[in-house]
Amino acid sequence: MNYPIISIIGAGHMGSSLLGGLIQSGHPADKLWVSDKDKEKLQSLQTQLHIHITENNEQAVAHADIVIFAIKPQIFGEVARELRSAIFAKRPLLISIAAGIRTHHIEKWLDTKIALVRAMPNTPSLIGCGASALYANANVTHENRNAAESILRAVGIVVWVGDEKALDVVTALSGSGPAYYFLLMEAMQKTAEELGLSSETARLLTLQTALGAARMAMESKNSPEELRRQVTSPGGTTEKAVSVLEENNIHGIFKEALHAASARSEELASLLGDK
Ligand SMILES: NC(=O)c1ccc[n+]([C@@H]2O[C@H](COP(=O)([O-])OP(=O)(O)OC[C@H]3O[C@@H](n4cnc5c(N)ncnc54)[C@H](OP(=O)(O)O)[C@@H]3O)[C@@H](O)[C@H]2O)c1
Repeated sequence: MNYPIISIIGAGHMGSSLLGGLIQSGHPADKLWVSDKDKEKLQSLQTQLHIHITENNEQAVAHADIVIFAIKPQIFGEVARELRSAIFAKRPLLISIAAGIRTHHIEKWLDTKIALVRAMPNTPSLIGCGASALYANANVTHENRNAAESILRAVGIVVWVGDEKALDVVTALSGSGPAYYFLLMEAMQKTAEELGLSSETARLLTLQTALGAARMAMESKNSPEELRRQVTSPGGTTEKAVSVLEENNIHGIFKEALHAASARSEELASLLGDK
């Protein structure tokens, strides 16, 4: 198999997870580069994964067939402008995982039209259980799409969206979503403790219930609504609890929360793009 040379700019949480995932999925270490300002971080990654390291972003780009931007959104503009000529010379496929940085911002900073995939992963990518949505601009070829998809698949599942605006909804759903589940777990565990369970028992039962429900929903052909009906016997305990949640407008609360997160994602994107 002919593996592309991939360079990752930024050896932080996501950059390191992607490198780990790529190595695990069989990508040869000598076809992976990572650049960062932090020498210690780089050296520790090299010891662990035997990849190429550099403190010079331009050097990383000069080697690459694919460049992944895994830096914070706040510094994206500055880093992209510095890499303008290196990218123009090599014309690699670019993948950005930076939240809120739109493709037209990147094209503006690089001052060129280039094949560009935007990915919106989420925190569970750090343990290989992520959910990423990808958007490709008009210069992305079929081969580029496959390459981008297999990279993000190294840290979880991947879906494509045809409209860049959909990434704001993705941000509200799967991007921020882990926090909604953590909040739910927090509330369930706390209440179980108030009702008399020890903290460890409440914690274990809460977490395994979340995992079990997620796995059942993934493995079943039935919708979550149908699965919920199946565990809700008339006059039973689940029905009682669900009716309290519905009387308190659980659907409306989630609707409002996701609308607010999506609108905030749009707002942040315009602030970041002006930098
Ligand atoms: N973490 C997530 O779950 C998640 C989910 C979705 C999207 N994302 C996106 O992924 C991107 C990275 O997030 P992260 O959590 O991995 O952040 P992070 O841990 O802070 O990683 C960013 C890395 O870039 C380094 N860096 C700073 N300036 C640089 C430069 N000029 N050149 C090269 N490297 C430089 C940072 O070094 P210093 O620490 O020394 O500054 C750090 O090691 C962000 O844009 C974020 O929006 C993250």
